[in-house]
Amino acid sequence: MTKSRLCPAIALAIVVMTIACAADADDANDASSVDTAPAITSDAPAPPTTAAGPAVPDGAAVYQQYCAECHGVDLRGTDKGPSQLSIIYEPNHHGDYAYRVAIREGTREHHWWFGDMPPVEDITDIEIEKVISYIRAEQARLGFEK
Ligand code: HEC
Repeated sequence: MTKSRLCPAIALAIVVMTIACAADADDANDASSVDTAPAITSDAPAPPTTAAGPAVPDGAAVYQQYCAECHGVDLRGTDKGPSQLSIIYEPNHHGDYAYRVAIREGTREHHWWFGDMPPVEDITDIEIEKVISYIRAEQARLGFEK
């Protein structure tokens, strides 16, 4: 019994050693090619250093264009859709993924009595990310409704 358990262990050790030796050999062969590797040069412009860009104003515009009609110009809802400041839309309950799905695919009436939310037409992926950032920022700024 003991013997049959040892055998695989020895076999594994041999395999590992063999691989290790092969790897060493590869390293030795590759050493000469290091000198001929092309130098890394880049003409690309430096990345922008201003992190606080126009994401929030753009997100606000996207929100007004695509969401305000139902969720309200102030996010507090209309007779066609719920307030985005409801506690049920806080990030731990409706994460950003739920937003992406709702915007792309719409959602069946399930939390309220406003009817279904249809998919939002013609909105781009970038606009979706901006509008989610905007709504999250507004939720944090205004606080959730009790
Ligand atoms: C035509 C009206 C309408 C528009 C436009 C609309 N929504 Fe909705 N939305 C609704 C309704 C109604 C619900 C509530 C569904 C329910 O839970 O009963 C809803 C629910 C949601 C939910 C919750 C989804 C879930 O999983 O429960 C999110 C998130 C959401 N909307 C985000 C948005 C965003 C962001 C936009 C704009 C990009 C938008 N909605 C545009 C009507 C709309």
